[in-house]
Amino acid sequence: MQTTFHSNLDKEFGEISEYWSPRVVAAANGQYVKVVKVKGEFLWHAHADEDEIFLVRRGTFIIRYRDRPDVTLGDGDFHVVPRGVEHMTAAPEECWVVLIEPAATKHTGATASDMTKSIEAQTAHLRK
Ligand code: NI
Repeated sequence: MQTTFHSNLDKEFGEISEYWSPRVVAAANGQYVKVVKVKGEFLWHAHADEDEIFLVRRGTFIIRYRDRPDVTLGDGDFHVVPRGVEHMTAAPEECWVVLIEPAATKHTGATASDMTKSIEAQTAHLRK
């Protein structure tokens, strides 16, 4: 991915047509910035080696944990899920979320699911 890249957050959200399908929009220092539209429930998973930053652009986003209280985020709120901690995300209505995480981070950690999107799928639009 090119390192000089210019875009607009809401323009990138406008390119998304599928829920739970992250779209890589920038790369820097080995990190990806991704945008994702979500609605409904995702699946329980953990990322053994990566912390995961969630920043809500629009809507209500819930992060559930097994071992600590749930977190509810609204417009402009952000939260870091620590590495190795199992989590499950959910949104009662359509919600727009920005993710910042190392480029190698797997969508659903070590858990495979039909909801899992590969890094190739998350960057496919960059190769068109
Ligand atoms: Ni995660």
